[in-house]
Amino acid sequence: MKTTLMTVAAAAFLTAGCQQKMADQPAHRPYEESNLFPFKQSARPIEKGTIHVSQPVEGDPLTTWLTELGRTPQPAYPNPTPDMKDVMTVPGAPTDNANFVDKFPFALSGGDYTRGQQLFRAVCAECHGAAGHGNGKIPERGFLRPPSYHRDPAHPTDNEVTNAARPTEVVGARDWSSMRPDAASGRAVRDYTDHPQGFSRGFSRLGKRMPLDKVNVGYIFQVITWGFGGMASHTTQLPDPADRWRVAAYIRALQLSQLAENAKLPGDLRQAIDQPPVKKDATPEVKH
Ligand code: HEC
Repeated sequence: MKTTLMTVAAAAFLTAGCQQKMADQPAHRPYEESNLFPFKQSARPIEKGTIHVSQPVEGDPLTTWLTELGRTPQPAYPNPTPDMKDVMTVPGAPTDNANFVDKFPFALSGGDYTRGQQLFRAVCAECHGAAGHGNGKIPERGFLRPPSYHRDPAHPTDNEVTNAARPTEVVGARDWSSMRPDAASGRAVRDYTDHPQGFSRGFSRLGKRMPLDKVNVGYIFQVITWGFGGMASHTTQLPDPADRWRVAAYIRALQLSQLAENAKLPGDLRQAIDQPPVKKDATPEVKH
């Protein structure tokens, strides 16, 4: 048995050496003429009803993340500059939060959040960081830094406004975008450092300052499904749309964990936080 295997391996090695036909293979190109299948094409026709993994299916809530408004072309910018006045957006452009559904298509249970957490840690945290601050291992090694999902807790009141209404000044922490103008190529490379931390870059491009904890959940679903800017689509990693909603739900949980409103906390937790700090002289003396 062993000898036979070795002979076969040696034969394969020797013949491979003589026949360098990499560029001239008998492989078919898609839809080339061929006698392989009855209809004389190298590829078979796509089965009726086949859908692409990121294709919205009409009427299926699991793959419907755009509202009626989101599917309708709108002016590209809420405050268009004269040159952009007549430019209309494509469906899904983040011009308005109301373009995206604000409800999950199914009721979420504890198990959905646990699965969302597992998936987030497996396919998002390497870039976005385990808690979503945008400090994963990949950006640490030079990849474009994603925005944080969390606003600066010291300035949580910074809500949706148009860029025009709030031109340059940023209160508190900024988006820590690592994109810098590229001096060598002379290309204008997008820099988000004039953004407050925790704001959507997608909305900002089209003229809105939109905190990522206030974007409707349909937008997060869209970013996972289509990708955005430097981030690729994640439908290969998350082919089941229900899993994408679960990951979006986990992002919401992370956002709550970082910027919870005191009034919305359960009573016992709020009480624990509201306790007046223990007076210094009440602390027992530590004996060495
Ligand atoms: C390879 C790194 C990488 C992975 C993995 C990744 N992202 Fe991103 N993500 C980015 C980058 C980079 C940006 C910012 C893109 C830009 O500014 O052009 C981003 C942006 C985002 C945004 C904000 C979009 C906006 O409008 O500002 C969301 C939400 C998001 N990602 C969610 C996710 C989720 C959910 C996953 C996992 C399913 C994920 N990302 C996986 C790199 C990644």
